[in-house]
Order: sequence, then C-alpha cells, then structure tokens
Amino acid sequence: MLITIEGIDGTGKSTLIRNLSNTLNDMNPVITREPGSTWIGEQVRRGIAEEIDPVAEALLFTADHAAHIRDVIRPALSAGKVVISDRYSDSRYAYQSVTLDSILPDALGWLEAVHHGWTIVPDRTYLLTIPVDQAMARLSDDRDDTEHFEKADILSRVQKNYLMLAERDPERFVIVDAMLEKEKIGTFVADSIRQFVKR
Ligand code: TYD
Repeated sequence: MLITIEGIDGTGKSTLIRNLSNTLNDMNPVITREPGSTWIGEQVRRGIAEEIDPVAEALLFTADHAAHIRDVIRPALSAGKVVISDRYSDSRYAYQSVTLDSILPDALGWLEAVHHGWTIVPDRTYLLTIPVDQAMARLSDDRDDTEHFEKADILSRVQKNYLMLAERDPERFVIVDAMLEKEKIGTFVADSIRQFVKR
C-alpha cells in the first residue's frame, strides 16, 4: 500500500509526517521522502540551491524518484508494508509544470510521459491545502533563507496544479485543510489511513 503526502511548502507536511510516525507506529509503516531517500537526493538539493536549468532540475528530481522506487518503495511494497512518502510524483507534476511552463508547450504531459511505464502510482494521496499568504507567513517564520520555489506567485500556481490533479483523480486524492489544528490533522489522516488499509 503506497500512501503519499503532498502540498505546497508551508502546509506543515513535516509535522504531519512526524505525527503519523508516532500514531501509526503499531502498523510499522515505512516512512520515506522525496527528494532525499538516496544519495541522488543530495544532488537534487544542490541543484535546487544553485538554481540550475529547469529541465536539468526536473530530471534530477525524476532520477531521485527512480532510485527511490528501486531502493525503497518497491522492496517495501513487495514485503507487504505500508509505505508513506513525504512528497512523490505529484510534486513533480505540480511544481515542475510551473518551472517548465515557459520552456515546454505541455509541461505536465511531458512530465507524465517521463514517468510513464516505470513509476508506481500511489494508492492514496493526502493533499494539504492552505491559503498561499498563510503558507508564506509560516515559511518566513521558520527560517530566513527560502528556496526558489517559495514565492507567492509560484506556490499559488503549484497549489492550483495540485487541485487540478486532485480533481482529475478524486478516487485517489483526499484534500486536507492545513489550517486546522495540527493534532486534528494528524488524527484525521491517521484514522483515514487505518480505514483505507483495512479496506
Ligand atoms: P522538501 O524537502 O519537501 O522541502 P523542505 O526541505 O523545505 O522541507 O522539498 C524541497 C523543495 O523541492 C520543495 O520546495 C518542493 C520541491 N520539489 C519539486 O519542485 N519537485 C519535486 O518533484 C519534489 C519532490 C520537490
């Protein structure tokens, strides 16, 4: 069972993941992330920091995804585990559709084609949503150096893309209001995962 957690920067994904790793401890889930579950993730972070070419950046994120699938996701799924990934393919579809928009006529189509045939589609995706000004406020509270994606206009387009993906695939996506209390979000998502896994 592959479950992914998605949302723009500042939605509180990290807090939710920490929360889930405690509350779902008895299920012994494999908790993982993109980018960064393999050494390629380090190169991705370097690429983000240096603001490299958007096509190179998209392919680096995708390379990280391929390694993630081979080294972590596929073995865990084969062993019958519940896998929870903090970001996954929808991050590419939502973010890189924006960064590649001025370069490619159909960025989403290209990104999906690049993944097609080898990626593993999640069984369930929780999408945290938040008003962009709130996300920006949280990000500037957290630290003073923001990544290049963390600009209001970009995050607003990324969130629109996420919502479009969710609308296209309502069976897979569950939209979660990230403005709710942290504990409430944690309990809601944990209960929902338990029910989904039982099914
Ligand atoms: P993340 O590790 O979630 O952020 P943080 O280190 O701030 O917790 O992801 C780093 C950034 O990379 C984030 O702004 C989202 C972006 N990203 C993409 O643009 N495409 C992708 O495919 C992924 C996985 C992340």
